[in-house]
Amino acid sequence: MKALITGATGFVAKYLASHLINKGYEVWGTTRQSSPVLFNSDFIKVYPLELTSKAEVLLLLNTLQPNFIFHLAGQSSVKDSWENKPFTFEANIMMTLNLLEAVKDSVIKETVRVLTVGSSEEYGDVKSDEMPISEKTQLRPISPYGISKATVSMLAQHYHRSYSMKVIHIRPFNHIGPGQSLGFVTSDLAKQIAEIESGILNPLIKVGNLDAKRDFTDVRDIVKAYELIVNFGGFGQIYNVCSNTPVSIQEVLNKLLAMSSFSSIEVIREESKMRPSDFPLYYGDAKLLIQETRWSPIISLNDSLRDILNYWRIQ
Ligand code: GDD
Repeated sequence: MKALITGATGFVAKYLASHLINKGYEVWGTTRQSSPVLFNSDFIKVYPLELTSKAEVLLLLNTLQPNFIFHLAGQSSVKDSWENKPFTFEANIMMTLNLLEAVKDSVIKETVRVLTVGSSEEYGDVKSDEMPISEKTQLRPISPYGISKATVSMLAQHYHRSYSMKVIHIRPFNHIGPGQSLGFVTSDLAKQIAEIESGILNPLIKVGNLDAKRDFTDVRDIVKAYELIVNFGGFGQIYNVCSNTPVSIQEVLNKLLAMSSFSSIEVIREESKMRPSDFPLYYGDAKLLIQETRWSPIISLNDSLRDILNYWRIQ
């Protein structure tokens, strides 16, 4: 079984590639020409490919003829999307459109299963009495990132309904793990704690909104869901990928601080880390995914956070 991962050098892609390899897949990847290729082992071959060029994508699909495409390429930061809307729409909407158009015109149109990756941000302004968020919850995206991913979900359904393509869309909630870049909360907090421990920073940690409650799942569990969904999910379907448990950022910070060897760290709120709009409570319902694929996440939040902190300790 041949799998193609777009955005193959990203945080989730590396975990997905290694999971697929362990399951016996032949794994191929694509990355933007301008991105450095961080790994290119015997197992995963990474192609420099501009997803904005339909001709290039079509050529690759017709040559490689993958059985599965995991479309991970895109702009993944909610915060950055407020500052760079055109890039967010180009990266998330136009590249997906191009990929799906290329699949439609390729020799693998009828066989290949395509997973498009959306986000819980697509739901946007959800009231607390609508929690947990199910796939049927109305989409009211607020951030430019959420709007771009909601559009991707509509494109996925459009290509399934109009061209019978085997497209499945997922809406992961917050996924975390060692190696996630800065700009995401657990990395931002853990890196500062690691630097305080090693004496690089004074014992003072800068944070954004600690009151927000989010639904965290370890990336190593998330990628297992991706593999199950492309095999057992319904075409044209949408699946939440989440843990069903809201945890406040304050609680995440407390857990990380408790794991630190440093006993007194001062916490200060930094305005630049606040967002124009930030939902107070956000958690999802993964019943559909669990029923249809028997997915069961196994890594606890404590274990995830410990691994993330250890990762930053050795950087
Ligand atoms: N990044 C960051 N840094 N966030 C902070 C900080 C900080 O120092 N302090 C508090 N926060 C709060 C944010 O305001 C937000 O409420 C929450 O922590 C989570 O922020 P992020 O980790 O940046 O994640 P996100 O929710 O904006 O987006 C992530 O989850 C989405 C799914 O819900 C990303 O992984 C997206 O790609 C993903 O789609």
